[in-house]
Amino acid sequence: MSSTPSSIPEAPGAWPVLGHLPALIRNPLGFLSSAADHGDLFRVRLGPSTVYLATHPELVRTMLVSNSADFTRSKGAAGASRFIGPILVAVSGDSHRRQRRMMQPGFQRGQLNHYVVGMTAAATETADSWRPGEVVDVQRTASDLSLAMITKALFQSELGATAEAELRVTGHDILKVARLSALAPGLYTVLPTAAKRNLGRTSAAIRAAVAAYRADGRDHGDLLSMMLRAQDAEGRTMTDQEVHDEIMGLAVAGIGGPAALTCWIFHELAQDAAVEQQLHAELDEVLAGRTPTGADLPLLPYTQRLVKEALRKYPGWVGSRRTVRPVRLGDHELPADVEVMYSPYALQRDARWYRDPERLDPDRWESKESTREVPKGAWVPFALGTYKCIGDNFALMETVVAIAVIASRWRLRPVPGDRVRPVAKATHVFPNRLRMIAEPRTPCPPRGPAHDSLTDSATAAAPS
Ligand code: HEM
Repeated sequence: MSSTPSSIPEAPGAWPVLGHLPALIRNPLGFLSSAADHGDLFRVRLGPSTVYLATHPELVRTMLVSNSADFTRSKGAAGASRFIGPILVAVSGDSHRRQRRMMQPGFQRGQLNHYVVGMTAAATETADSWRPGEVVDVQRTASDLSLAMITKALFQSELGATAEAELRVTGHDILKVARLSALAPGLYTVLPTAAKRNLGRTSAAIRAAVAAYRADGRDHGDLLSMMLRAQDAEGRTMTDQEVHDEIMGLAVAGIGGPAALTCWIFHELAQDAAVEQQLHAELDEVLAGRTPTGADLPLLPYTQRLVKEALRKYPGWVGSRRTVRPVRLGDHELPADVEVMYSPYALQRDARWYRDPERLDPDRWESKESTREVPKGAWVPFALGTYKCIGDNFALMETVVAIAVIASRWRLRPVPGDRVRPVAKATHVFPNRLRMIAEPRTPCPPRGPAHDSLTDSATAAAPS
C-alpha cells in the first residue's frame, strides 16, 4: 500500500514552529546522517515550508535516473542565474539540453588531456610559492588552485591572458555574489562599488577574449575554443553573451568541489602514515620528482584511488530535485512542486553500503570486486542523470595532478593544537579551518622491478 504525503513520517528532531531549521542550522551533517537510521523518506519542516528527504539509495536513484522525467532542478540551484544569466548549472528542460550539448565537447575525456599542461603549471606555482616551515592556509590555497585550474583550461592562448589574470583575481567574488543573489534577489544593486567595478572589469576582459578568439578563428585546444565551435541540434553556435555567461558559471560551479577534496586529502595524509607512504612510494617511483604529463596519469593508480576515496568520504552534503507532477517515490506519493533532498555525505558514509565508512581506505577501490555490493544510488558525489556534474572527470584529473605535483615536493603537517572538523559550506563539506606546516621532501629513488607491477594495474584501477 502506498503512503500519502501526510503519512510520510516527519524526520526526528523537529521543534515547534521552526521544525527542523534549528537542527539543520546547528549540525546539518549530523542531522542528515542520523535520519537514515529511522527510515527511507521523511518530511522535513523548514519553518512554514515542507521539503522531503530521501535517505535510501534506491529512492535517490529513482529520482535522479529511473524516473528523472518526474523531477527537475531545485529552485535553489536556479538562483545562480539571477546574477549571471541562464547558465548550464541553473537552467532546466530544453534550455538545459541545448546548453549541455554545447558545453559537453569541452569536458570529454579526449579533450581533457589538453588541459594537463595548464593544470601542472597551476599546481607547480602553488608548490613553488611555499617556504620550509611556512604555515599554509590550505583552504585558501586549494580554492585559488582550483580557480587557476579552470582559468588555465579556458584560456591557453595569449589572446585570453588578460581574461585569465582578471578571472583569477575575482573568480571567488563571482561565486560569493551568485550565492548571495540566489538568497537575496536584487542584491547586486546594493553591492559595494569596488566589488562591482572588479566584476565589471573581469566581465569586460572575458568579452574581449571571446571577441579576440572569434576574430582569430583558430582552435587553441582550450575550453574556450571548444565552446566557440560547439553547435546545437540546429547547427547554431553559442552567442558571445552565452559564452561569457558560461565562463562566469564555471567559476560558480567548478571551484568548491575540487578545493574541498584537496583540503581533505592533505588533512587525511597527515593522519595516516601508511596511506601517505604508499602515495609517496608511487609518486617517487613513477615521477621521481618530475612534473607529471598526461601520459603519467594512468600510471598513478594509488593516487587516483586516494582521490576517489576522499570524494567518497567528503562529498557534498546535500543535493535536491523538485517534483514536476504528483509522483511516486518507492511506496510513497509526493505532491507536485515540492523539493526532495538527498545527502551524498550521509549515503557515502552509511555502513550498510560501505564497510568501515569512517576510514579513508583508498584500497577499497582496488578492484571492482571490493565495491560490487555498493548500490548505484549510494555513489553520488557528482549526482546522476540529466543534471550530473559535467566537470566530473575534469575534477578527478585536476585533483590527481594537484596531489601528484604537491606531494612529490611537500609533506603538510598539522599545526599542533588545531582541531579540524567538517562543516557544510554552500553544498560542499570543508574543514572548519585548515592550517598546515609545509615540510619539504625529496623523492626517494625508484626501487626497480616494482615499477612494472604499478604500470600493469594502472588502467584497471582508474576512477570511473
Ligand atoms: C570534486 C569536485 C566536484 C563536485 C563534487 C561536483 C559536484 C557537482 C554536482 C553534485 C552537480 C549536480 C548539481 C545538481 O544536482 O543540480 C554538479 C553540476 C555541475 N558541475 Fe560539478 N562538481 C565538481 C567539480 C566541477 C568542476 C571542476 C566543474 C567545471 C570545471 C564543474 C562544473 C559543473 C557544472 C557546469 C554543473 C552543471 C551541470 C548540468 O546541469 O548539466 N563541477 N557538480
